[in-house]
Amino acid sequence: MPEPSMPEPSMSAPSTSAPYVHLSATDVLESVAAYGEYGETEIKQLRQSWDGLPVDRFMKGGASYRRRRYSEFQLTDRGLVRAPHGAFRQSLAVNPLHGGVAREFEPVEQEVAESPLLTALVRTLLARLPGSFDSATGGIGIHQIRIVASREAEGLPAPEGIHEDGHHFVAQVLLRRENVEGGVSQVYDREKNPLFRTLLTEPFETVVIDDRRVFHGVSAVEVAEGTPVGVRDMMLVDFFPRRAEQDASDHPESR
Ligand SMILES: [Fe+2]
Repeated sequence: MPEPSMPEPSMSAPSTSAPYVHLSATDVLESVAAYGEYGETEIKQLRQSWDGLPVDRFMKGGASYRRRRYSEFQLTDRGLVRAPHGAFRQSLAVNPLHGGVAREFEPVEQEVAESPLLTALVRTLLARLPGSFDSATGGIGIHQIRIVASREAEGLPAPEGIHEDGHHFVAQVLLRRENVEGGVSQVYDREKNPLFRTLLTEPFETVVIDDRRVFHGVSAVEVAEGTPVGVRDMMLVDFFPRRAEQDASDHPESR
């Protein structure tokens, strides 16, 4: 166990910084490369894992345009260590649309969970958080999410609208954008006034928010003209404190 008074090497900038950061794809990939040699093959394999996501069956109204997997990890010297799989929880206060129920998503596949590239990506994000986070005691949630937009239905990445996730930090990493329009990432202050908006276009382009200082949202994703179907793949990485009494099979109330 680390000494409680010792600062962790993973602690990043103080929270006097802006409550969000926007990282270019080049920036992210260069940082990831600093943690090891990762080529096109590893990157392609990670991105292809989104092809196998099952439908999120907890969507209101039986909507099937969102696919996802979720697993919780802890970051150790050996890399990401998966926590026992359990339900994903958000309070109704944080998520009035889908909160208040235990959502049991399929876990992240083992091959992805054990990928050194995934660990390098999480280390990169950790180093660029807009504030401090103690990874020795904190938990890390990985969501793989695909929004499928078609002629029949647009996709709402965040059907709850302007919202917070109930974590300390959340990284929104774009993995793929094909044949879609929309999906603008938006950040708001605590009064829900717009602070920042951007369209993530390049794989690994990222927005990281301090979820306690800002709200966020994403506009609808529509299929592009002349194509029957489009996809937008995102990896969301949640950084949250673990409760001391947290049971191995449970997750924080807020997520
Ligand atoms: Fe969110």
